Amino acid sequence: MQTLEAIERRRSVRSYRSEQVRDEDLERVLQAGLRAPHAGPFLVSVVQEPTLLRDIADAALEGMKNSPVEFLRQQAATPGYNPLYGAPTLILLTSPADAMNGAANCALAAESIILASTDLGLGTCYMGSPSSALNGPRGKDLARAIGIPDGYVFRSSVLLSPSGIHAPKQPIVHHAARADALSMCTSIRTCTQE
Ligand SMILES: Cc1cc2nc3c(=O)[nH]c(=O)nc-3n(C[C@H](O)[C@H](O)[C@H](O)COP(=O)(O)O)c2cc1C
Repeated sequence: MQTLEAIERRRSVRSYRSEQVRDEDLERVLQAGLRAPHAGPFLVSVVQEPTLLRDIADAALEGMKNSPVEFLRQQAATPGYNPLYGAPTLILLTSPADAMNGAANCALAAESIILASTDLGLGTCYMGSPSSALNGPRGKDLARAIGIPDGYVFRSSVLLSPSGIHAPKQPIVHHAARADALSMCTSIRTCTQE
């Protein structure tokens, strides 16, 4: 697959089976993440242990239920909602709290991971909701269990699975969906600044 084709075909996957991604594929996409432009330290952590994934999902759900952001509370109230959608792999990107470019480093690495995964036919979803777990009351314990050093904070995350991307070429109407996503992001940003 060419780079532009991967960009065009990438879509967020929110339905997963327990089948795990192959180690060699995981290694390739992590290497792609580490090759992204960066200015300063960041850490990539991979969580595949089912109990730990469950704990992160539970803590994220709890955090979303109590969030000041209405959109997150609404999502959390959806019957059967699992913030990690049962994905078998969660890749977390963290960096020191005082790192000037921490957010940019991690977001760029996440995008490279996502595009490399798409190129390999894997399913991904960029995720902000694990911040509700790692910044919540159980955050320190979860970070310790994952192996994230003290002083590192959540920046980005990516769900990963072997599910292929079968999205058809994007229809024109997709532009409307993109506008919705943009306004959703704007409202989250506004709430965070308050
Ligand atoms: C900062 C950010 C945070 C996001 N957090 C979540 C999330 O917590 N859960 C989720 O399902 N999707 C999340 N997404 C994915 C967006 O919802 C998705 O990319 C957008 O709706 C466009 O759809 P597409 O990725 O299929 O093109 C996030 C995207 C961004 C950029």
